[in-house]
Amino acid sequence: MENSLPSSLNGPPFRRPLARRLKRRAVATGEIRLPAVPGMVEEYVAMCSDIFTSLGRSFSDEQLDNLRNILGEQLAEAFAASPRSQIIISYEAPVGTVLNYHVKAQWWSVDGAYENWIATREPPLFGSEPDARVWALAGEAADPSSFPILDLGAGTGRNALALARRGHPVDVVEMTASFAESIRTEAAQDSLAVRVFQRDIFATIDDLRRDYQLILLSEVVSDFRSPQQLRGVFELASHCLAPGGRLVFNAFVAHRDYSPIRRRCNSASSATPASSPNRRWRRR
Ligand SMILES: C[S@@+](CC[C@H](N)C(=O)[O-])C[C@H]1O[C@@H](n2cnc3c(N)ncnc32)[C@H](O)[C@@H]1O
Repeated sequence: MENSLPSSLNGPPFRRPLARRLKRRAVATGEIRLPAVPGMVEEYVAMCSDIFTSLGRSFSDEQLDNLRNILGEQLAEAFAASPRSQIIISYEAPVGTVLNYHVKAQWWSVDGAYENWIATREPPLFGSEPDARVWALAGEAADPSSFPILDLGAGTGRNALALARRGHPVDVVEMTASFAESIRTEAAQDSLAVRVFQRDIFATIDDLRRDYQLILLSEVVSDFRSPQQLRGVFELASHCLAPGGRLVFNAFVAHRDYSPIRRRCNSASSATPASSPNRRWRRR
């Protein structure tokens, strides 16, 4: 069977209209997942526009404005909900000139994200050695048994368990259920003086001591979404530290030329990946 065009139909005058029709006959579907960075909305609009154009469905300026608005809303929602968020743009181009697209935001809560790490990553998740600064500060205690420590956001317990093995009474507040449970189990196996509270740091301080010599947050502050949370840690420390006790935490420092955009941030609370309802749009 002849599968190439007859030479009389293969010249530019015939080929161009055929190629144009080819795009109308093409059926395409796809999904673009992008991190929810509201400041990059223009890049995201350009990316969609390029893809849609390559499928023969060029968007007008008005249609791109609609897309920009929808992306802007979803980006803002996802970004406010969690640092671990994305937007998903799915599109479908049936025969013709139509392109339907859907945009939705999706995010993990903090503990949901860590439960997912446990399910999908190889341990040790945060290293196997205790934080050197924490270890050195606690090591200043002449008698570890009279130097109680509070580990906020203890994770797998690389600090809490090592400190307890050295003889410190250690309290742990950890919201991710699997982490809290594994610290509890390991502490019980080795008869360590560790109390584990599985909850959000900010839920209550009622059952915490008022005489900690050291309160630590190792790689936890990066999970916060608002200055109020950082303030909350200082308030907690002001109630729970012994006179002369220390609060120690680390933070990622921005590049020196970075200029932050002020935004209002909300915190997330769901346990599984959450998502917004689909925003749908149709282009003819
Ligand atoms: C990156 S891990 C660090 C774990 C540990 N501090 C270490 O250095 O190995 C952050 C931990 O903080 C916990 N976390 C974050 N925000 C929290 C909050 N508001 N309340 C309780 N735990 C929190 C997370 O569940 C996670 O286990």
